[in-house]
Amino acid sequence: MPNVVVVGTQWGDEGKGKVVDLLTANADVVVRYQGGNNAGHTLVVNGEQTICHLIPSGILHAEKTCLIGNGVVVDPEVLLEEMETLRERGVSVGPENLGVSEKAHIILPYHKALDAAREKAKGKQKIGTTGRGIGPAYEDKAGRTGIRAVDLLEPAILGEKIRSNLEEKNFLLEAFLKAEPLDFQPMFDRYCAMGEVLRPYVTDVSLAIERAGREGRNVLFEGAQGTHLDIDHGTYPFVTSSNPIAGGACAGAGVGPRRLHHVNGIVKAYTTRVGAGPFTTELTDEIGDAIQSRGAEFGATTGRRRRCGWLDLVMLQDSIRLNGLDSLSITKLDVLTGLNPLKLCVGYELDGQTVESRPSSLDKLARCTPVYEEAPGWEEEISSARTLDDLPPETRAYLNRIEEITGVPIALVSVGAMREETIVVKDLFG
Ligand code: IMP
Repeated sequence: MPNVVVVGTQWGDEGKGKVVDLLTANADVVVRYQGGNNAGHTLVVNGEQTICHLIPSGILHAEKTCLIGNGVVVDPEVLLEEMETLRERGVSVGPENLGVSEKAHIILPYHKALDAAREKAKGKQKIGTTGRGIGPAYEDKAGRTGIRAVDLLEPAILGEKIRSNLEEKNFLLEAFLKAEPLDFQPMFDRYCAMGEVLRPYVTDVSLAIERAGREGRNVLFEGAQGTHLDIDHGTYPFVTSSNPIAGGACAGAGVGPRRLHHVNGIVKAYTTRVGAGPFTTELTDEIGDAIQSRGAEFGATTGRRRRCGWLDLVMLQDSIRLNGLDSLSITKLDVLTGLNPLKLCVGYELDGQTVESRPSSLDKLARCTPVYEEAPGWEEEISSARTLDDLPPETRAYLNRIEEITGVPIALVSVGAMREETIVVKDLFG
């Protein structure tokens, strides 16, 4: 059975949650490989909405195994809270269906304090982070001062590490960032206590994936955020601190590249972005407002209003190359109903010249202007369509044009928020 990776092709919020939920029906194991509680997906549990930031939505299926890979930064407060909320709603959560990599780095209160204080200090230059301490936790990982899940299980080592980290963090917080310092003892006690609760869940995720493969179980690797928020390939520095691209699944879950058999890229039928940074197809007019309100484009984690614009196929081409996409899932297509004409960005111009690919220089990227191709819109509601033939000809033409320009087949089209409001063109696990 093939293993599938699902990645966002834009700036996150492409609707990965729904696609992952659908694909989970055919997967045995679901693995998160990067990011942290900066991500968020809305789950409907027994009629009640719950937003999960860390636990994959596969947890709703009792027989699936959900794993949090070493590439994820874990805030144990958030993880425990999510476990509790799910249990209160009747979902069974235990070490038999949830595991956290012993190598996953842990978010501590000083990471959150630094994230907030740095953004405040940057003023207008701020990145617009989610404020969850994600960047500072990854900094410590690269700086070899991070605290891993396995350290939560060894109080003496945990104490030493927190103490030595706090010395430096408090100096930074107080002297440089003019923020409040943090106390060692309550932090140490709390993290020891959380470590005890999490002890049965802390495991070797790489080995668990290998075992699953040997038993013929297939794996769904779930990327968070999106390709253009990738620390290496995104619009740096307006990016997150990890690698959402498909290659990140190897490093962030502990698997070799040959274990990734199919990569599906999620493409929202238009583009959105939260936080700062260049956005070539951004619409600051009433069309942008219409997309924002119809698409309910507010962040699941921060509630921030998302910036909206036309679908950018130049960006998508980059994502196809960076992820090696085998297929696309087009989401939120129904949001475009009633907009006429539609526009697809098929190229960029910089200083009057056509550019071949997106410039790495942010200054140049910010000066790029989109080259649009117009496409006729449609007026009909499309949420009841279950096959491509059920769609109006203009909608099919819009999809065909995306396939034609990108050369990548569409495997799935989402035409509404509900699970059944989906057109499955190709079974990725088939
Ligand atoms: P951080 O990941 O909190 O450090 O935020 C860095 C940038 O990534 C900011 O622009 C955030 O808005 C953006 N970001 C982080 N997580 C998500 C997400 O799940 N969806 C969309 N944007 C995100």
